[in-house]
Amino acid sequence: MHSTTDWESWHTDYDDPSSLLSERLRLVQRYIADWLDVSAPRPVTVLSLCAGDGRDLLEVLEDRTDAGRVTATLIEADVRNAARATEHVVRLNLSSIEVRCTDAGTSNAYHRAVPADLVLLCGIFGNIADDDVQRTIAATPQLCNENAVVIWTRHRRDPDLTPHIREWFRGHGLEEEHFDAPDHAAYSVGVHRFVGEPKPLDADQRLLTFIK
Ligand SMILES: C[S@@+](CC[C@H](N)C(=O)[O-])C[C@H]1O[C@@H](n2cnc3c(N)ncnc32)[C@H](O)[C@@H]1O
Repeated sequence: MHSTTDWESWHTDYDDPSSLLSERLRLVQRYIADWLDVSAPRPVTVLSLCAGDGRDLLEVLEDRTDAGRVTATLIEADVRNAARATEHVVRLNLSSIEVRCTDAGTSNAYHRAVPADLVLLCGIFGNIADDDVQRTIAATPQLCNENAVVIWTRHRRDPDLTPHIREWFRGHGLEEEHFDAPDHAAYSVGVHRFVGEPKPLDADQRLLTFIK
């Protein structure tokens, strides 16, 4: 990892339910839960890039009786976060959830995990170069199944990249379903639906590198 941030302690803001990070998490989790409700009862697949400790998806599954229909791949480079995610999966006894402790920046990491019905791109776009954001969005048709949903987050601090992000998603066949950008906070959460044709995964692509 090229990152200079301690990505394990980054998660401590989640310990405070009144933090903006916790607020953002609840919003992401609401969209995940809504998507699960709408997709029920069919089996579904989820891919989470740079998943951290995986709590966005795993806490939602914790409360659901239909968690067994979810096959998921969580990709996380930090061994400590990946270990926490794995412990959580074991606690939930969900054998169809795989935690891959590897670099999500290369397309080879997604082998056999795509196409997915839900793609989580949370906590990524504020930590990589704008070109990498664009490149990752351009690759989403290789990650998405037909009619897949992508949930993403990005801060809106100056210069706000979210107008470009929303446009890039649209340009690659992903229609916007929600964009939440509360006045009292810098975070935003977007939900886009893939209405294009899924593309095969190109091997050996470099998509993103963390620079923070
Ligand atoms: C801002 S956190 C977001 C975690 C989680 N998605 C969330 O929203 O709670 C970014 C995560 O990306 C991980 N990460 C950084 N570079 C990565 C890479 N190249 N491949 C996979 N994970 C990476 C970090 O270890 C960290 O857990």
